[in-house]
Amino acid sequence: MNPYTRDDLITFLSSQGNDYEQLKQRALEVKKSEIGNKVFLRGLIEYSNICRKNCLYCGVRKGNKNILRYELTDDEVYQCADLAMKLGYGSLAIQSGERNDSKFTDKITELVYQTKKRSNNTLGITLSCGEQSEEVYRQWFDAGAHRYLLRIETSNEELYYKIHPQDATHDFQTRINALQTLINLGYQTGTGVMIGLPFQTIEHLADDLLFFQNLNVAMVGMGPFIAHQDTPLWQYHTLIPDIETRMQLTLKMIATLRLLMPKINMVAATANQTLYEDGREQAVLAGANIIMPNLTPNQYREQYLIYPDKACVGDKPMQCSFCLKGRMASINHEIIYNQWGDSKAYTEKA
Ligand code: 5AD
Ligand code: SF4
Ligand code: FES
Repeated sequence: MNPYTRDDLITFLSSQGNDYEQLKQRALEVKKSEIGNKVFLRGLIEYSNICRKNCLYCGVRKGNKNILRYELTDDEVYQCADLAMKLGYGSLAIQSGERNDSKFTDKITELVYQTKKRSNNTLGITLSCGEQSEEVYRQWFDAGAHRYLLRIETSNEELYYKIHPQDATHDFQTRINALQTLINLGYQTGTGVMIGLPFQTIEHLADDLLFFQNLNVAMVGMGPFIAHQDTPLWQYHTLIPDIETRMQLTLKMIATLRLLMPKINMVAATANQTLYEDGREQAVLAGANIIMPNLTPNQYREQYLIYPDKACVGDKPMQCSFCLKGRMASINHEIIYNQWGDSKAYTEKA
C-alpha cells in the first residue's frame, strides 16, 4: 500500500516557501514518532582510493592522475576500530574504491573478521566496497559484515549512462542485480543517489524515491552532487542547480523519503556540510538519523576527495566526536553511543 502517488512526490519535491517548511516539519514529526530525536553513528574508514572504475563524477576515478593512491595497513584499520570503540561509536563503515581481485577481496574478509573478533562482536560493520560477485558478498557476510551500502547513483538508466562510461564495467543492470543479491543474502542493504546532477529532473528524483521503496531497502544515503574539476562531468558544472537550490532539493528528498519510508535509516551525508556549514544538522532536522564521523588517519584524507572541499579533512577523529556532540545538542538530538543502530525497517521485517 503506497499512501503517496508519483504526483504527490513530485509536488513535495517542487514545494516552496511555507509548503517546503511544512514538508520538513512533517518529516521530523514522523521521525520523532518512529525513531525518536536520535542519531546513530558509523565511524567511517576510507580504506583505499584505488579504484578500477571511471565514474564520470568522482575524484577517485581511475583516470584521475592528480591523486596519490593509498591503502591503509592492517594495523591502521585496527587502530581505527579501537578508536571507534574508545569514542563509543557502535558501528564502523569501511568504504573503498572498487576492486575485484582476490588480493583485495580476501583482505577485506580478513579485516572484517579480525575487527569483529577484536571488538568481541560489539562493533557493527557496514561495507561499501562496490559491485562484487555473489560469492564475495557471501564471504564478507560470513566474516561478519551485516550491512552494505551500494548507491545506485540514479535509478534512471539513461541518466546513469550520462554519468558513467558506456562499457561493461559500468553496467546499470549489473548494479541493480548486485543490490538484489545483497538483499537476498540477508544484508541490511542501503542504496542512494546524488542530487543535483546535470540533466537530472524532479521526475528522475521522484522515481529514485519509488525505486528505494520498490526494493524495500533498509537504509538510504543520498547527498548533493558537488562537481569535481578533475573529472569529465565538470564540463557541465554550469548546468547544476546553485548551492541553495541543491541544498533545498536534498532536504526535500530526505523529508519526502521519511514520509514514504518512516522506519529506514537515512544518512545526513558529509557532502551536505560542503554546501552549508550546518548542512548535516539541516539534514537531521529534515528526517535523517545517521551520521558518519570520519576515522581515517589524517594523512590519507586528502587523497580520498571524491568531491572537493570535503568537510573534516583537517580534523582529528577526537575533534569530530566532540564537535558532533555539540552540533546534535544544538538541534535537540541525542547521539546514541555503543549501539549498532540497526534499521527498524530491517529488524521488524526479520
Ligand atoms: N559529488 C557528490 N557525491 C559524489 N560521489 C562520488 N562523486 C561525487 C561527487 N562529485 C558519491 C557517490 C558514491 C559515493 C562514494 O560518493 O554517490 O557512491
Ligand atoms: Fe570508484 Fe566509487 Fe568513485 Fe566510481 S564512485 S570511481 S566506483 S570510488
Ligand atoms: Fe568533523 Fe565537526 S564533525 S570537525
